[in-house]
Amino acid sequence: MGKLRWILILLLAVLVGYIWYEPTFDPESLRGAKVVVTGCSSGIGEQMAYHYARFGARVLITARREGRLKEVVAKMKDLGAQEAIYVAGDMGEPEDCERTIKTAEEKFGGLDYLVINHASLSTLKKKNKSPFWDGDMDMLHDEVTVNYYSYIRLASLALPLLHKTNGSLVILGSMAGKIASPFSTFYAGTKHALDGFFTSLRQELVMQDINVSITYCVIGLIDTELPAQFRQLFGFLMDIPAAPASDCAMAIIRGGAARQREIYYPWRDAWVATKLRTIVPQFFESLTRGIYPPLLEKSPIFIGEEN
Ligand SMILES: *[C@@H]1O[C@H](CO)[C@@H](O)[C@H](O)[C@H]1NC(C)=O
Ligand SMILES: *[C@@H]1O[C@H](CO)[C@@H](O)[C@H](O)[C@H]1NC(C)=O
Repeated sequence: MGKLRWILILLLAVLVGYIWYEPTFDPESLRGAKVVVTGCSSGIGEQMAYHYARFGARVLITARREGRLKEVVAKMKDLGAQEAIYVAGDMGEPEDCERTIKTAEEKFGGLDYLVINHASLSTLKKKNKSPFWDGDMDMLHDEVTVNYYSYIRLASLALPLLHKTNGSLVILGSMAGKIASPFSTFYAGTKHALDGFFTSLRQELVMQDINVSITYCVIGLIDTELPAQFRQLFGFLMDIPAAPASDCAMAIIRGGAARQREIYYPWRDAWVATKLRTIVPQFFESLTRGIYPPLLEKSPIFIGEEN
């Protein structure tokens, strides 16, 4: 009995240590690093661009809105970026993905980090659309093109460059990539798919002695444009506190630099919920479902108000 108690205490200590473990991060390692970040006109992407700039990296950012990119690049230069450039384009278009990686190769002569962060908000922007899955295959196709195919296309184009530098791929996943709650069919589908694809690829790289790290980021509710869109659709999300995008961006950069396989942010929600979901899936799902009905009554979409 005495032995068992010590084993339990040891296991608990290991668990606590694992939870609180923070990998060491050397900001100097990012000075002069060659970085591409997609989806930088707002939100987490924009904040990552500013952090990389502060660390003195050479950064190429992308988004569709050229006006916004110019503003972000100007601020990055003020913050100390060794180099800040942009490619204006739609990552759903294969040519724009190719142009992005080619430009980095030409301007930087290589690549250390590819951070794939862009997301399509089309499902959220479509007004008065039922949040229940309604068989809209055209919208699913658009979603998969931007939120899944383009991630794999960019990663594939960049892999030969990352191989040369022992670089890192950072994939913006989501809590929806580990846990599927109602009303996230499009989003949960693509984010789960990314987790599957890149978890498999990570192992293939190890088997081939290709030293490129892959970090999948499990991101919870963050104070960005996305929840703002959500809020418009589902007014009830208003009451849930969101974590700051700037802190989230820093957690992602640290995780990528430390070559972690996954990062969770905000950790308490994302990590705890993910583990709970794995251990007791039915219980967790009935809990999530239970949250919605009373809240839905307040949502403009369900009570038929015009948006
Ligand atoms: C990359 O890592 C390998 C070991 O996996 C090492 O032999 C090689 O020198 C490294 N190359 C660079 C450019 O750091
Ligand atoms: C892979 O590359 C990183 C960065 O250059 C290096 O720190 C690490 O030791 C390498 N890993 C292996 C297994 O060689």
